[in-house]
Amino acid sequence: MLDAPGAPDRKIAALRWDGERLTLLDQTLLPSEERWITLTGAQDTADAIARLAVRGAPNIGIAAAYGLAMAVSVDPSPAAVREAAATLSGARPTAVNLAYAVDRVLDAAMGAIGELGERAAPAAARAEAEALHSEEYLAAAEIARLGADLLRGRRRILTHCNTGALAAPGAGSALGVIAELAARNPAVTVLACETRPLLQGARLTAWELQRLGIPCELVVDGAAAGLIRTGAVDAVVVGCDRIAANGDVANKVGTYAHALAAAAAGIPFVVAGPTSTLDLATPDGDGIPVEERHADEVLGFGGASIAPDGVAVRNPAFDVTPAELITAIVTERGVVRAPFGENLAAL
Ligand code: MRU
Repeated sequence: MLDAPGAPDRKIAALRWDGERLTLLDQTLLPSEERWITLTGAQDTADAIARLAVRGAPNIGIAAAYGLAMAVSVDPSPAAVREAAATLSGARPTAVNLAYAVDRVLDAAMGAIGELGERAAPAAARAEAEALHSEEYLAAAEIARLGADLLRGRRRILTHCNTGALAAPGAGSALGVIAELAARNPAVTVLACETRPLLQGARLTAWELQRLGIPCELVVDGAAAGLIRTGAVDAVVVGCDRIAANGDVANKVGTYAHALAAAAAGIPFVVAGPTSTLDLATPDGDGIPVEERHADEVLGFGGASIAPDGVAVRNPAFDVTPAELITAIVTERGVVRAPFGENLAAL
C-alpha cells in the first residue's frame, strides 16, 4: 500500500504501511539516494524520527502512530504500551502532531485492554494509526484546495523548509497548496529557501518540485528578505509544527525572518497545516518548546567541516512567528484569520 489506506498511488511518498510493518524513505539521504528502511517498533521508529529519516509535523505523527501500533503488537501489556508511547513522544519536542498521534493510539490501545483484554490491543492500535493516516491524507487535499483559493492570482511564491509529500500525506501542506496553485495556473513559480542547516529546501523541496514539474529557483535563506523587498515575491507560504491558541506559529528556523520581510513589503504570509498541529493547550508561542539540535549540524555538512574547531554553536531547529505577522492559517476545517484566538477556538 502506498500512502494512506485507500488512497491512490502517488508519485512521492515518505512512508508505507503494509498492515504490519512501516517502511520509510530515508530523507537524510535525499536527493542522492532513495533508500527505504523497515521499522519494527517504538525504539527504531523514535530513532528514525530523531535523526530526521522521517520528518515534517504530520508525517512524524503518522510514523509515531505506526511505531506504537507495532510495539503494541509485540507486547500489549499496559506497562510496555505506556513505555513505548513515552519513547515515541520524546523523540522530538516541537511538532505537537507527535504527542497528538501517540496519545490517540495509546488511548485506543488502553481502551481496548480495559474493555476486552490485552489481546484486543494490537488491532485497536493499528486501526487508530490507520485512521489518523487517512484523516491526514484527506486534510492535506482540503488544505491544498482552500489555500489555492486563498492565493488565487499570486504567481511567485516563496516557501521555506519542506512541506510536501515527504512531510505530510498526499501532496503535503504548504507545498500542497503551491502544487494546487500551479495546477490551476502554469505560470506559478517557486522560490525555495535552502533551509540551513539541514537543507530541507535544497535537498527535498527542490527534489519534489522537479518531480512535479513546477518551476523552482533555489535561494539561500539570507536572500529571501531582499527578494521580497524588491517585489520578486507575491506571497510567502509555509507549513507549521505547532500553532498556539493565540495563533503564534512554530515552524522551521528562518520562518520568522520571512514573516517580517513579508509584513514590511505588504505581501501575504500564509501558514498551512492540519488541525492536528493546533495546540489550544499552549496559550502562545512562548510556551512552545523549541528543539535545540546538535552543534555538528551547523559545524559541517556532508562530512566536511565549515567552521573553526572549538567555535560555540546555537542550533534552534525552529522559531516562532507571532500571530500579528500572519495573514491567514489554512487548515482542513477552513481558513483562519485574525482574531486568531477566537477563530482558532471556533474550529
Ligand atoms: O525539522 P523538520 O524538517 O521536521 O521541520 C519541518 C518543518 O518545519 C515543516 O515546515 C513543518 O513540519 C510542516 S510539514 C508539512
